[in-house]
Amino acid sequence: MHKLLRQYAQDMHKYKDQDFAFKGELGDYYRVMTDDGSWSLYSSSFDETCHSSSGAEIETQHVYIHGAGISRHAMHALAHKKDLTILEVGLGTGMGVILSLNFLSQYFPDLSVSLYSLEIDPAFVFWLERNEEFRRSFIKIATAQDNTVSFKARCQPFSLHIVIGDARKSIRPLIAKGLKVQAIYQDAFGPRKNQTLWTVQWFEQLKQIADANATLSTYCSAIAARKALQQAGWGVRSFPGIGRKRSNTFARLLGETDPKLLQQFEASPILAFTDLTCDDKIMR
Ligand SMILES: C[S@@+](CC[C@H](N)C(=O)[O-])C[C@H]1O[C@@H](n2cnc3c(N)ncnc32)[C@H](O)[C@@H]1O
Repeated sequence: MHKLLRQYAQDMHKYKDQDFAFKGELGDYYRVMTDDGSWSLYSSSFDETCHSSSGAEIETQHVYIHGAGISRHAMHALAHKKDLTILEVGLGTGMGVILSLNFLSQYFPDLSVSLYSLEIDPAFVFWLERNEEFRRSFIKIATAQDNTVSFKARCQPFSLHIVIGDARKSIRPLIAKGLKVQAIYQDAFGPRKNQTLWTVQWFEQLKQIADANATLSTYCSAIAARKALQQAGWGVRSFPGIGRKRSNTFARLLGETDPKLLQQFEASPILAFTDLTCDDKIMR
């Protein structure tokens, strides 16, 4: 068992009743209500919440379920008798996991789905296991084999693998075993706080795990992150945001970068994030 998971399993009784706040490996977390009535979590170490204050649930639906084109991927998978594999960067509250299952079980209940979620702080696994909706929907099938905790959904052939560790390292064995994903939810904290997951090098790693027709979506519209995606070989475009957010970012391996964005890239002196320019207070 991963040493951090073992430690949390031992310390679990300390956090049992703390539904509004809990201690994680990287600091404390507090539950915060967002404008659509759904909950998010504030991370003291990153000094950020997992979602926009406009609405955790609305944002997740818009940016990831619709933004990454999950229904298109699901239809394609069914038509070609294939499975659908999704990669999430940052498990956080588990909202991305729960809404993906809800959507797919409603519209594509026979589709076989795997969702891999990369998460640095193991405390989120225990937070998720206390979530009533999660417990109604998933059964644990394996505890921390290496650094992975796996669950299966009760209502659909849908498996969830939460991979604990720094995503830049924990993704390597997945790439090495030849895993290919069709949709990527790029949902790290914002680049000002979590810059290592917005670099050219990170998006190159994501390319290695991406199927030829893969899509990536993210709430982030920072030009340095968009440039990093483009320099890593993704075709980048913008799509409308919701709430207080004007635009989000969508990328495909097969697609071209929107010419308007290319013009903006050329006109802007801002450089793409690279591992060399990173000043990530958690990871360095
Ligand atoms: C914006 S939150 C994710 C929100 C989540 N998708 C949800 O539905 O609630 C960002 C997450 O990325 C995780 N994270 C930050 N740096 C990481 C790293 N280097 N490797 C893996 N996970 C990381 C944080 O711990 C946090 O849970």
